Amino acid sequence: MALHLKSTILLALLAATVSADFSASFRNFINATYGEARLTALARTDLGADGSYGGGNHDGLSQTNKRPIILVHGITNTAGTFTPQRNYFKSNGWTDETVYATTYGAGPAVNVINVKMECGFVQQIRNMIEAVYQFTGQKVDVIGYSLGSPIARKAIMGGICVDNVNVDLGGPLTNKVETYVSVADSRKPRHHPHQHRRNAEDSSGHSRLLKMIGIFVNFHCFWAH
Ligand SMILES: *[C@@H]1O[C@H](CO)[C@@H](O)[C@H](O)[C@H]1NC(C)=O
Repeated sequence: MALHLKSTILLALLAATVSADFSASFRNFINATYGEARLTALARTDLGADGSYGGGNHDGLSQTNKRPIILVHGITNTAGTFTPQRNYFKSNGWTDETVYATTYGAGPAVNVINVKMECGFVQQIRNMIEAVYQFTGQKVDVIGYSLGSPIARKAIMGGICVDNVNVDLGGPLTNKVETYVSVADSRKPRHHPHQHRRNAEDSSGHSRLLKMIGIFVNFHCFWAH
């Protein structure tokens, strides 16, 4: 009984260690490649285990055996909000080495009406895409949810910031992203029967826009009903 309890607690601790922020190897890679300030910004250990995840035992010296996914959370969420989705991918062929997330913004500490699409959020996701691309040695897939959709899209597109025309994010990350999936884009209306057709048009419109500016990533769009 006591032994059983001890091993249960040990397992729980191990599980907590595994799920808490980036793995040691990914942290070391970010620190060595981009510096400690970037590591602090991406790891978001200020939010505890919810701040970030990814890396596993990969050493960054070779390709991961599967294309990595980066989950981009929605308004007032954190990376940890997507733990169920992370676990879903992990039970369907992905691993700690191939499912990644960071947190932009202050997470749940900020009232939802005070959150808008800030350049800093976009830059954070761009930095994350760069880091995961370099670390895993291959193109990444990006899934943006709610406010995470326009943020991830702008991160991939690059160019002049929306809220500050003096900041240029740089060129598109075309060659680093295989597929970008937008889920329940916060900027599109929902819950209305007439919206479905419009949404479909918007969806292909985005797709055309991305192609027009030279971003040839696969693009998929899902809407909340
Ligand atoms: C980051 O790298 C520097 C230089 O090697 C080192 O001094 C520092 O301790 C590292 N920081 C972390 C958090 O690993």
